[in-house]
Amino acid sequence: MTLQQRLAETTAFIHKKGVDKVDFGLILGSGLGELAEEIEDKIVIPYEEIPHFSVSTVVGHAGQLVYGTLSGKKVLAMQGRFHFYEGHSMQVVTYPVRVMSALKAHSLIVTNACGGVNESFKPGDLMLITDHINFMGTNPLIGKNEEEIGPRFPDMSQAYNLAYRQVAKQVAQQKGLHLKEGVYMGFTGPTYETPAEIRFARTIGADAVGMSTVPEVIVAVHSGLKVLGISCITNLAAGMQANLNHEEVVETTERVKAEFKELIKSTLTAL
Ligand code: HPA
Repeated sequence: MTLQQRLAETTAFIHKKGVDKVDFGLILGSGLGELAEEIEDKIVIPYEEIPHFSVSTVVGHAGQLVYGTLSGKKVLAMQGRFHFYEGHSMQVVTYPVRVMSALKAHSLIVTNACGGVNESFKPGDLMLITDHINFMGTNPLIGKNEEEIGPRFPDMSQAYNLAYRQVAKQVAQQKGLHLKEGVYMGFTGPTYETPAEIRFARTIGADAVGMSTVPEVIVAVHSGLKVLGISCITNLAAGMQANLNHEEVVETTERVKAEFKELIKSTLTAL
């Protein structure tokens, strides 16, 4: 079955559930899943019901699509994403972005939790993603290209839409929210990085490191979606603090989630 045939089945199912116009796709990373609860006139579809979807295995990720109105926009949110480190193929990890595009979303807002590499960052900072480094050793577009969906050699010169970044910065300023900016470097995980890897990451221009986002953004760009990416720096990266653990990541997302939600909602209003 081709990608387009699978997408036709998935979108037919999602339409049957009552999903209609989609403006923005949303990927809600660790700690931000709660934002889906604020979506009005919700339609909730668990991943396990959706043809050609996989299921997420990470604790704390709900695993459902939530459709409705947020900040006056029609959104289709992923409450929980698929990670490469779970053993999913890159095609599985990025399939929901294909679905958003097939449902005619014009933009994707992607969020994540990540480690701060830039020495001026603190845990709890929010970072506007300006660009990324794909260090995952593979690419979701490897394989036969379906020209109807996107080009063989997509231009990544402005993967994170400049106009959207300007809007997010303006909104943050108006709301008195501190918003850092930087380059996100994607590792596969599931190990956190070593201190040597973090020194390397800093040397080559990374400001933050994480285990998601890069595949989804590559596919979003391939599909012609405009992307806005916002990270929550949950910890300083390896070698910059005593040790790393998932509990700290969860604690930090809990601590800043009100601010994170506010930034996303206000930016969505302004876009
Ligand atoms: N490294 C990779 N992924 C992460 C980190 C980190 O330090 N913190 C949260 N996600």
